[in-house]
Amino acid sequence: MSGQNGSRELEAAMRDRIGQECLHVPSARFGLLLALRHWFERGDRVLISPTNCETVLFVVLAAGLEPVMAPVSWRDGNIDVPNIDWNGLAGVVTTHLYGQPDRVTELRAECDRRGVILLDDAAHAMQTTVGGRAAGTFGTAGVFSLAKHGRAMSGGFLTARDPAALPELARARDESLLPGGARAQLLGTLRPVLRETIYRTGLVRPMWHALKALGLVQWTGHRCPPREKELRAALAGDPVDLRALDHWLRIDLDDWRMRQGPLLRRYQRSRFRVIDRERGRRVAGVELLRTLPWAAEGVRDAAPQPLLRVPLLVENRDEVVARLESRGVVPGFIYDPPLDDYLELVPEGPSSEIARWWTGHVLPVDPLRAARMAGLLTELDVRPAPRPFTASQQPA
Ligand SMILES: Cc1ncc(COP(=O)(O)O)c(C=O)c1O
Repeated sequence: MSGQNGSRELEAAMRDRIGQECLHVPSARFGLLLALRHWFERGDRVLISPTNCETVLFVVLAAGLEPVMAPVSWRDGNIDVPNIDWNGLAGVVTTHLYGQPDRVTELRAECDRRGVILLDDAAHAMQTTVGGRAAGTFGTAGVFSLAKHGRAMSGGFLTARDPAALPELARARDESLLPGGARAQLLGTLRPVLRETIYRTGLVRPMWHALKALGLVQWTGHRCPPREKELRAALAGDPVDLRALDHWLRIDLDDWRMRQGPLLRRYQRSRFRVIDRERGRRVAGVELLRTLPWAAEGVRDAAPQPLLRVPLLVENRDEVVARLESRGVVPGFIYDPPLDDYLELVPEGPSSEIARWWTGHVLPVDPLRAARMAGLLTELDVRPAPRPFTASQQPA
């Protein structure tokens, strides 16, 4: 299936995990871009969650599409399926925020009924299942991120329900990949190795301060600066020129569309073993975190899964983050403000108050660090965020 020989082994390993043919891609965002270009026409309206990572928004824009903000649930930050306005939608991109599954069975059924294309973005949810089936396989196509799972810091997969679509997607991939020099290949492998070492040796705090002091942490706040005027200019081309958009598409991953050589691919293959090795500890961490007073209702009520992060909802979140950072814990994965507040060109979604509450209070916690975080949050006297719902919105 693959133009890159060594990718076949990775693709076979992924196919065995999810039960569907896959293409290896350098990043989930690149896979998503290929899928959006393949299944949609310029100007199509595609529903995405405002609580999501901005890379999803930027690939939708890069594909020449119109992003529409989804209603979101206060219980898990995912798409609130019963409240979707389906008018004029050509597609939906799932969220599976932090690994907590979207209501994909309902989404699939509604999309099928209405002839809407569902793309199943499982970038956060490589180990999530719904009714025994892997998240990422509920759509016409789906994507996965090795940058997050196994902390490989690059790599991902694109899968399609109909394997006959894959050869054309592979051609499109090979045409858009950029050659990576030896230095970029080596750095792509060394970076995650170095990061793992830092985490294992407990040097997070001094490293974090050093990186900030050296100006290597490129922005403060939770999202990259939008630079909206330049963005609008970069989007003007027809078709959209990916090079003009590189600033927005390479957030946290400079080599998001670099052809990955044997060294990087071998490293990524080795991270599958890490994912499997950590699975038990991850579930145990989720089991602990979901019982805490800060846990999101949706996680508390669901059967524990090996989530990427567990969303806690806390008062004075940014102050809590600053205090955690000073103790060597850097939470990450905070997507604040919601995408419709982030860019003026994105029209406001139907549940903007809930989205704002969610992104303004969420503290995503790595289940592998559950016990330490539970202790720290108690020690810091962190209070749960008051729920935003009114009596009529409360669950039965
Ligand atoms: C939900 C979601 N989808 C897709 C992506 C893109 O993943 P990758 O970094 O592998 O391109 C991200 C994060 O960047 C994400 O959070």
